[in-house]
Amino acid sequence: MADKDGFKVAKNYQVDVPFANNSESFYVKGSNNLDWGMKKHLANIFDAKSGNTVMFAFDHGYFMGSVAGLERLDLLVPTLIPHVDVLMCTRGALRTCVPPTGNKAIALRVSSGSSMLNDDLSHEVVAVDMEDAIRCNADCMAVQGFIGADGQLQSIGNLSMAINAGARYSIPTMGVVAVGKDMERTDRYFKIATRIFAEIGANIIKTYYCENFEEVVAACPVPIVVAGGKKLPEDEALTMAYRAISEGAHGLDMGRNIFQSENPIAMAEAIRKIVHEKATDREAYQFYQYAIHK
Ligand code: R5P
Repeated sequence: MADKDGFKVAKNYQVDVPFANNSESFYVKGSNNLDWGMKKHLANIFDAKSGNTVMFAFDHGYFMGSVAGLERLDLLVPTLIPHVDVLMCTRGALRTCVPPTGNKAIALRVSSGSSMLNDDLSHEVVAVDMEDAIRCNADCMAVQGFIGADGQLQSIGNLSMAINAGARYSIPTMGVVAVGKDMERTDRYFKIATRIFAEIGANIIKTYYCENFEEVVAACPVPIVVAGGKKLPEDEALTMAYRAISEGAHGLDMGRNIFQSENPIAMAEAIRKIVHEKATDREAYQFYQYAIHK
């Protein structure tokens, strides 16, 4: 019990000063009306100053097994942690290869069920229950969604299930727009898919960069982070990142363009320059070249 002796009588109520927490809206797009817990997770993901995020995706093993650059998660991941904001991974990778120390946000891949050994990647289930996402300290749950594909109904069911569970425990959900190999990669398609995910209730959307990207962003009421996609030469990947951020993306969620880079740390730092420091693609590439040659 606190010692009551020596306490002063409270008197500094500043009755003429308006309540300080009512005037500012929350900086993450579309999240102003969410509760404190949701906002806290989103604030862990999106930097308060830039409003943006650098996510490092290394969840590819969930359907591809071991891919080039990710053979030894235990060796690679700890080297990149200081250079990114969010780790996007499976719970298997998290528990085995991500040190529980540090303060990076976690985007936990919770959908699964496909593999590269057959052509049908669109049928998935929600494979991680809410309690385990909480045990993993997830800041958001990532669910793959296949709009216009055979597994569309199942995808929307999975996404809705995660959103419903997340709403109970204030954990945001990130809808990941999947594009099958025979599907269009047009702004028309991405406008439909991103908007459907947001209307279902996803708090963050991960999608691909495309023509008329500004319109995709404008029509989506929650933040969009852009997937890296297949490995590009570093200058081209940085140009794509620059265009995405300039046209309204709130971050990059890159995998292969970081971990298959000649220098993954320099590449992650170059992306940070664009995402958080308003660097142009040219400036970021100059930074990258300087970093690899010094
Ligand atoms: C998406 O479905 C994958 O699981 C990856 O998270 C995503 O594709 C990002 O990685 P990359 O930049 O290599 O495409």
